[in-house]
Amino acid sequence: MLLTFYGHSAVLLSDGKHTVIVDPYISGNPVAPVKSSEVPKVDYILVTHGHADHFGDSVALGKRDGATIICTWELKKYFEGKGLKVHALSTGGGHDFPFGRVKATIAFHGCGGDADADGDILPPNSPVGYVITIGKRNIYHAGDTALFSDMKLIGERYQIHCACLPIGDNFTMGPDDAALACDFVKAERVVPIHYDTWDIIHSDTRIFQYKIEKQGRKAYCLKPGEGIDIP
Ligand code: NI
Ligand code: MN
Repeated sequence: MLLTFYGHSAVLLSDGKHTVIVDPYISGNPVAPVKSSEVPKVDYILVTHGHADHFGDSVALGKRDGATIICTWELKKYFEGKGLKVHALSTGGGHDFPFGRVKATIAFHGCGGDADADGDILPPNSPVGYVITIGKRNIYHAGDTALFSDMKLIGERYQIHCACLPIGDNFTMGPDDAALACDFVKAERVVPIHYDTWDIIHSDTRIFQYKIEKQGRKAYCLKPGEGIDIP
């Protein structure tokens, strides 16, 4: 299972047969390593919430690839209105897809909707994270969230092979809270996200890396465009 980081919170997962992308913020993303048109063909697009730095290029990629959007119920109508296929989940709910399973998890964050490229405003919505099972690997993408102790339940219910956790502080967890989150979900490895896109979320990954290594875990601080194999 290959995980590729596209900067900010955009993460592409591929088992060689199926490809899914989470929060494809590419256009306008100052650290995106590629243009939207250069993103590989995707089968599913997972959107964690209605902020522009997360839904990003979902509509453009969804139309290009005929991909299905996975998002919360509140965002379903918006994406359907753009002519896209949508599968809606609500917090705590999971569903089996051709590539594997997705479960929507709690995330504590803002619930407003930003305007898209057409000026259409996304409706108010519940922010979520996702546990994504693909290629027999469980990936926890936390979305934008504060630290919360119920993350321990995720670690109890799943063997998390990789956690993608925000470390940029200000809008989400910072490195200290994210290190604790990594311990809560007992992730075998962690890929920090949602940092260094702008100065306001600058983060020194060396501090994060040190804290994760002290737990006996591995942090992969990927540059946008880099990936890791999760065997
Ligand atoms: Ni957000
Ligand atoms: Mn964000």
